[in-house]
Amino acid sequence: MEPQKYKRYTITAALPYANGPKHIGHLAGAYIPADLYARYLRLQKRDVVFVCGSDEHGTAIANQAMKEHTTPREIVDKYHALIEKCFAEIGISFDIYHRTSSQLHHETAQDFFTNLNDKNIFVEKENEQYYDEHASAFLADRYIMGTCPNCGNENAYGDQCEKCGTSLSPEELINPRSTLSGNKPVLKPTKHWYLPLNKYEDWLKEWILQGHAHDWRSTVYGQCKSWIDGGLHPRAVTRDLDWGIKVPVQGADGKVLYVWFDAPIGYISATKQWAINNNKDWKPYWQDKESKLVHFIGKDNIVFHCIVFPVMLKAHGNYILPDNVPANEFMNLEGDKMSTSRGWSIEMHEYLEDLPGKVDELRYYLTAIAPESADSEFTWKDYQARVNNELVAILGNFVNRVMILMHKFYDGKIESDSATITLQDDNLNTELGRLYDEMERNFEGYKFRSAQQTMMEIARLGNRYLTEKEPWKTIKEYPAEAKLALHNCLILIGHVATCMQPFLPNTAKKIFGMLNREKDTVAFDEEMIFANGHQLNPASLLFEKVEDELIERQIQKLIDKKLAIEGPAVVADAPVIPAKENISFDQFAAMDVRIGTILTAEKVAKTKKLMKLTIDTGIDQRTVVSGIAEHYEPEGIIGQQVSILVNLEPREIKGILSQGMILMAENAEGKLSFVTPSVWMPNGSVVR
Ligand code: 2FM
Ligand code: ZN
Repeated sequence: MEPQKYKRYTITAALPYANGPKHIGHLAGAYIPADLYARYLRLQKRDVVFVCGSDEHGTAIANQAMKEHTTPREIVDKYHALIEKCFAEIGISFDIYHRTSSQLHHETAQDFFTNLNDKNIFVEKENEQYYDEHASAFLADRYIMGTCPNCGNENAYGDQCEKCGTSLSPEELINPRSTLSGNKPVLKPTKHWYLPLNKYEDWLKEWILQGHAHDWRSTVYGQCKSWIDGGLHPRAVTRDLDWGIKVPVQGADGKVLYVWFDAPIGYISATKQWAINNNKDWKPYWQDKESKLVHFIGKDNIVFHCIVFPVMLKAHGNYILPDNVPANEFMNLEGDKMSTSRGWSIEMHEYLEDLPGKVDELRYYLTAIAPESADSEFTWKDYQARVNNELVAILGNFVNRVMILMHKFYDGKIESDSATITLQDDNLNTELGRLYDEMERNFEGYKFRSAQQTMMEIARLGNRYLTEKEPWKTIKEYPAEAKLALHNCLILIGHVATCMQPFLPNTAKKIFGMLNREKDTVAFDEEMIFANGHQLNPASLLFEKVEDELIERQIQKLIDKKLAIEGPAVVADAPVIPAKENISFDQFAAMDVRIGTILTAEKVAKTKKLMKLTIDTGIDQRTVVSGIAEHYEPEGIIGQQVSILVNLEPREIKGILSQGMILMAENAEGKLSFVTPSVWMPNGSVVR
């Protein structure tokens, strides 16, 4: 089915707080998928504006200023510049990267507030709030910490517990303390403006629960449903703070707009600034029903983008609503949650410094393991495996083999009897058409992991075709056939490069350069054709193999960073299961545990937990049923090395004969991890 085309597209990616560097989990959560979508739309020649910018208000900024003994202004200037530079280097193709401290944004946010205030949308209420008498300040959001009523984390913030993800208000914290002075706060009355979300419940039910039950991701829909079903309450949109946008009402001295009120309006002010810079009109992108608005965010921002901001837009009345909010889940790192403050992260600037020239590799890997439907896991080993086994061995190899043969046999010249060279193979033509359709469907459905796999299918198709045709052999006896095969491969390379542009923009440009194409971008519907006599440029290497040493250094760096922050005495607070009774050495030696590699993985139908795996044990390839389906995505674990008990009696599970057991480590919260060798080991290696 032809996707519904809109007149124009407004694509937003969450405005990152300019309170520190941003890590690759942020990239994977919002910026890479948004960039893929925007690039795809542009290659489809659609009218797109892709906006983002720094979120420069709120207590997160002010807190960081205290930590660094400087002013909020200096903090946002410093981190805005760093974040913007990293995004540019990673190729996030924003049409504008704006900032919420700009004059234009302040005016836009104030006008929005005034518009709602004039319509009497807000409820004004005075109530008691926590106040720090030493610092003479009300304690909103991240100025107050305490114990989370939900999970017991002692360092939960007044707006959210980062450990369990629950959104909180300061009164809910147990043992509250001020982050300004560390003191216990007192209660003091203050007046604020509230957005009455409760009045929009019926409308939200109709718009989301009925209207978007099928096109929004189930994770996003589920979160919205549980919020709406739980009952909505008025939410304060003002705060007693110095740093922020002044509330544009008489008698509101010392009050600013809540950061989550002004930040999403940042998308609008960014579009305005872009329009000014490019002599365009911003309004149709936000106010014309034929425009499609899509917000790319991480799952912690769902409620603001699906409930609060839409209610603001609806209350205003002139705006369109998001058509979709394809929020990603979280990406963990080497078995733990990514966190800059705990030192367990790979910051964008660190990656760029440590692995120069490997931007496309990062984009590829983050897309391959994108947490689209469940949390996913970045591991350096898997990064290495994906680069070496996929980018080097499949993509790079195909392009390289064809280019080398073309130069060897024909000095890089494409010559034929006809005036132009096109794809001359029915089978390849049909397959290619199918793959283009599939990729388009995947992009339109925000399935970027699958879209990238489809692109790789074209390279696989090329490799298979080349291996089957063997032009290096047929060149002597059947030179015409050899030439035809290589020409067909060149056309395929052109198509792979076309389709890879959203994912691997630098590599695509390199390939277009090698093919000596006039332009370095090619729209999806352009015909791939060469003129007779076309001269190719010399081949250059597309991807380098990632060596063990590089990833070992990265893993060490991660450990060192964490140790530097948390000290060596980090002990888990979770209880440890007591040891079992002693066994004899013979009992132990009776177990035959080997290192194996997962070759295939699929969920077992009608079960929640089970996954059917094929394992290369070195001894054989066998089927094992394992209870890991709630922890891993099948595509994410192919190539993973595991420990497997190979002499466990075979057992039938759900009609499948399971031959052996994968060893898993499990923590107190039930989180699972494979037991993997610390360096790559051949399959069949004995564990003892
Ligand atoms: O969670 C965050 O990092 C917020 N700064 C995201 C804001 S998104 C938008 F609303 F601006
Ligand atoms: Zn919690």
